[in-house]
Amino acid sequence: MRILIVGAAGAIGQAACAALAHHEVTTAGRTTGDIRLDMTDAGAVQAAYARLGALDAVVSCAGDASFVPLKAHNPETMRLGLIQKVMGQVTLVLVGQHVLGAHASFTLTSGILDRDPVPCGTGAAIANGALAGFVRAGAIEMRQRINVVSPAVLEASVPRYGALFPGHRPVSEAEVGRAHLRAVEGAQTGQRLPG
Ligand SMILES: NC(=O)c1ccc[n+]([C@@H]2O[C@H](COP(=O)([O-])OP(=O)(O)OC[C@H]3O[C@@H](n4cnc5c(N)ncnc54)[C@H](OP(=O)(O)O)[C@@H]3O)[C@@H](O)[C@H]2O)c1
Repeated sequence: MRILIVGAAGAIGQAACAALAHHEVTTAGRTTGDIRLDMTDAGAVQAAYARLGALDAVVSCAGDASFVPLKAHNPETMRLGLIQKVMGQVTLVLVGQHVLGAHASFTLTSGILDRDPVPCGTGAAIANGALAGFVRAGAIEMRQRINVVSPAVLEASVPRYGALFPGHRPVSEAEVGRAHLRAVEGAQTGQRLPG
């Protein structure tokens, strides 16, 4: 398959890339990857799809959100996750649905914080919940399959985020990669897959 992986250089992106390495993968990021692309910019996304030609799958492992206590949030910090993590990934789908064939698939990435919250997690939780709703609802209208991988904290990210997740069981790169693999090569749609 020809696959575009957005956010491939990141921690989750590396897990997805490792699991999908047997495919023809093009990597993308704002400052990293085979092609440079800000997924929140619909024009840039459209141009990237036009340049790449036929794709069998788009996998997104990208999307910033603010990790601060709720009391420290303001509308701007809360908006970060909605603009980057939600609308960035949604933009890949909104533009891509008109470009990719009916056999193709979209795989987005959310996280567990809307279902298993931790302090400082509301900025990510609001984005994760929105993505779950988008994928479930979008699947009944789309020609292509669409799923979202929702991992717990990654082992490789424990030095960065571990203090926020006391007692949580981190997931391995292989486990998260398997969820992306299942979403790309499997047959399900509208699903939230645990990482
Ligand atoms: N790491 C974890 O343990 C974990 C667990 C569950 C869920 N998640 C979620 O998974 C996603 C990725 O997390 P991560 O830890 O892998 O992050 P990361 O290491 O910071 O990597 C993020 C990647 O996405 C790219 N990116 C970010 N915004 C982009 C945009 N607007 N357009 C194009 N590329 C963009 C970045 O590249 P550039 O900077 O070059 O753009 C980078 O390659 C996040 O939404 C995170 O909340 C992470």
